[in-house]
Amino acid sequence: MASRGGFSNRIGFVLAAAGSAVGLGNIWKFPYEAGQNGGAMFLLVYLFFTFIICYPIMVGEISIGRRAGKDAYGSYKKIGGGRWGILGLFGIICGVMILSFYNVVAGWAFGYFLEISFGSLLKEGDFGAFFGRYTADYGDNFIFSICFMIITAFIVVRGISGGIEKASRILMPTLFIILIGLIIYSLTLENAMDGVRFYLLPDPSKLNIETIYSALGQAFFSLSLGMGALITYGSYIDKNQNIATSAAMITVMDVSVAFLAGLLIFPLVFSQGQTPTEGPGLVFVVLPGIFEAMGPLVGRIIGGGFFLLLCFAALTSTISLLEVPVAFLVDEKKLPRKAVVWILAAFIFLVGLPSMLSQGAVEAFSSLSWYDDKSFLDFVAEVFSDISLPLGGCLMSIFIAYRWKTYNMSEEIGNGYPAYKGSIIEKFVNVVITILAPIMLGLMFINTMLSKFFEISMF
Ligand code: PHE
Repeated sequence: MASRGGFSNRIGFVLAAAGSAVGLGNIWKFPYEAGQNGGAMFLLVYLFFTFIICYPIMVGEISIGRRAGKDAYGSYKKIGGGRWGILGLFGIICGVMILSFYNVVAGWAFGYFLEISFGSLLKEGDFGAFFGRYTADYGDNFIFSICFMIITAFIVVRGISGGIEKASRILMPTLFIILIGLIIYSLTLENAMDGVRFYLLPDPSKLNIETIYSALGQAFFSLSLGMGALITYGSYIDKNQNIATSAAMITVMDVSVAFLAGLLIFPLVFSQGQTPTEGPGLVFVVLPGIFEAMGPLVGRIIGGGFFLLLCFAALTSTISLLEVPVAFLVDEKKLPRKAVVWILAAFIFLVGLPSMLSQGAVEAFSSLSWYDDKSFLDFVAEVFSDISLPLGGCLMSIFIAYRWKTYNMSEEIGNGYPAYKGSIIEKFVNVVITILAPIMLGLMFINTMLSKFFEISMF
């Protein structure tokens, strides 16, 4: 254990894991997914998945990691024997692919920080048109996403407590404070309450399979579940940590940031007379509007500050995404950490190039004829995140239920939480992992496959 490094204490782990969870998923993806899928109804389904399905899965992932003390592949293999390692490999591949496009979007956020603070973005007027031009311009994107990958690699090279943990400690609380400040401001704007209604008053007619499916994918993505990030982080904690409470804290922090992001964005959307169904451009189009209204100097400071923090939130997530394949190569292949980090970072950056060029820069990537004319970025995000992460969670549940067994998991959790055994939380976690999650996630997966490839829907 000592030679692999580890988190220095409980709060270090919780903040790093929450740092992994809180990211573009909360501030960029959550609001636009909610906007496209019926606002409050989406929020409700998302909360259901987060607390009922994802929380137990998070407890499971961290337990697997701590029991085995290895990377995602090594952990499954050590506990389950030979073939189960494939579950870990599947997660590692998802991590690589997610990072490849995530880094591109992080590059946009980085570019927005610079353009707002030091450039003339706030004078643009038509922020929608600006966003379109911006993401289609591969020159800037290339530079910013390369910068982002380099910064990520720098921190991952420094290891667990020196890099990952230190970065999370300061950034997370600051993000929280600035979000709250902006929300208070945005709620005072005209028509803001229409946004609040859209976001908080559920309309049952908006409930359909698409909403359920998007909310499920979003819950897994946002909590960094289903691909071994928390197995990997769990392998760096010591036995006296209370996994059940740590997982609860991580979940609550993540949900709070997503919830607050929605509470900021929807009042703004409605006060600016925009539509909530805008899609991936939503925050990039709507937010500059309030920063512009704050006046040139204040707008630059607050707007720049906001996008800088968004970059930091993204950074604590890219760090965890990169750590997953790094830990695999270091633990399994005994390769030197530093070289592995740089080589993987370069490789993943290259894998991300088609995604970067898929926002208008190169027509062939921007509209895939074999994928509903969606972009390459959409394709990677849907396959490796929306579909694969819930599948990863389903397979992990099956692994615990039928291979590792829940009593072994309880024993592992009991190390840092003696009262866990026999508690109501234990019963809840076990029911979800043995019954609810495999059935529900399995059905969702089968339905997705049928509807995507055969246009058949079970529901
Ligand atoms: N949870 C991160 C976010 O919300 C993204 C992520 C997914 C990070 C999977 C690690 C693993 O931005």
